[in-house]
Amino acid sequence: MNPVLDHRSPTNVRRNGGPSVPGYRVAVLGATGAVGSEVLKVLGESDLPINTLTPVTSPRSVGTLVTFRGEDLACVALADELVDSVDLVISAAGGAVIEDWAHRFADAGAFVIDKSSAFRMDDDVPLVVPEVNPEALTGASKIIASPNCSTIQLVVALSPIHRTVGIERIIVSTYQSVSGTGKRAVDELNRQLTDIVDAGIGCARSSVPPEVYPHQIAFNALPQVESFVGGDPYTTEERKIEKETRKILGDKTEQIGISATCVRVPVHRAHSESVNVETSTPLSATECRELLRHSPGLQVVDEPEAGHYPMAIDAEGKDDVFVGRIREDASRPNCLNLWVVGDNLRKGAATNAVRIAEALHSQALLRVAVG
Ligand SMILES: NC(=O)c1ccc[n+]([C@@H]2O[C@H](COP(=O)([O-])OP(=O)(O)OC[C@H]3O[C@@H](n4cnc5c(N)ncnc54)[C@H](OP(=O)(O)O)[C@@H]3O)[C@@H](O)[C@H]2O)c1
Repeated sequence: MNPVLDHRSPTNVRRNGGPSVPGYRVAVLGATGAVGSEVLKVLGESDLPINTLTPVTSPRSVGTLVTFRGEDLACVALADELVDSVDLVISAAGGAVIEDWAHRFADAGAFVIDKSSAFRMDDDVPLVVPEVNPEALTGASKIIASPNCSTIQLVVALSPIHRTVGIERIIVSTYQSVSGTGKRAVDELNRQLTDIVDAGIGCARSSVPPEVYPHQIAFNALPQVESFVGGDPYTTEERKIEKETRKILGDKTEQIGISATCVRVPVHRAHSESVNVETSTPLSATECRELLRHSPGLQVVDEPEAGHYPMAIDAEGKDDVFVGRIREDASRPNCLNLWVVGDNLRKGAATNAVRIAEALHSQALLRVAVG
């Protein structure tokens, strides 16, 4: 369907003056950010009928041009007028922003798909990965949470195993890219890398001080993703993986043991995860490979002797999760090791949000405006 765009008006106005077609009025919050700009790309590739697209940023970026389906659109700030003039909000503006606005949009009849952690653990808000728990999308809540990027790729890889043989325990170590922290973090890595390379071989310290991260990220690995709070020896990111994985897999009684160690690495884009999973009944590496090969949203890349395994640079820009290095763990019965890689900005964020929107559309849950 050829979309009709008009970011300036809350009504559906065709630029060529012809009759309007049924379609949605969509706002993308955080449209200039690492995730928001990817949302615009993935939405642009989607068949979702969109009549108006409003890119929203903080007041400092108002007027910045972003591109959607070949059109340049000027960003606007959040304002009361927007509340009644959109059917769908995809928010990548952070928890502090959407917390204040989500219920206002929802009360006015719009669905809000939020990329932040603000609502993820609310009992009445579904936390959805469409290939894993589409049944959670009932329409009962107009606010829908999209999980943390590390959680999404983990549950896409593990849910087929859980459904087939049950999971007792998950031990996951992540190698997370800097784009997971947003555009400022990418700039920080780039500036430190350039500084070190310019200084010559042998120097590992940058004179560019860390601002986004607690330490230099260039040529380093930080065993801290997000923050340590309240004396908890696990970071907030590690706790998110535990809680969100349980919610998505329907583990209400905490039967599944989950232990996460999250590490930030100087990779631009795509998170990698080393996963050790203990199953309730045996599953061989060969059976696991076959199972995952036929599961949605996954690609198995597993010929290690030929040097074929998932890598961050290959996952970049892709909508699938990649799994390889599938092998039995000889140290413990019913345990497998896997290497799981996904593009944090696509599958871990934008693609998941847009797939949720498409699922709402195919279930006819979204309000359609006809101009
Ligand atoms: N990065 C990832 O891989 C990833 C994955 C999953 C989830 N998330 C979540 O997605 C959200 C966005 O992350 P990000 O990495 O894209 O951050 P980012 O690159 O820093 O972008 C933040 C965006 O929010 C906008 N914004 C800030 N304050 C605003 C306000 N008051 N009103 C409207 N817009 C405002 C910014 O606009 P300006 O240009 O004006 O600053 C920018 O467009 C966060 O909640 C994050 O936790 C991120």
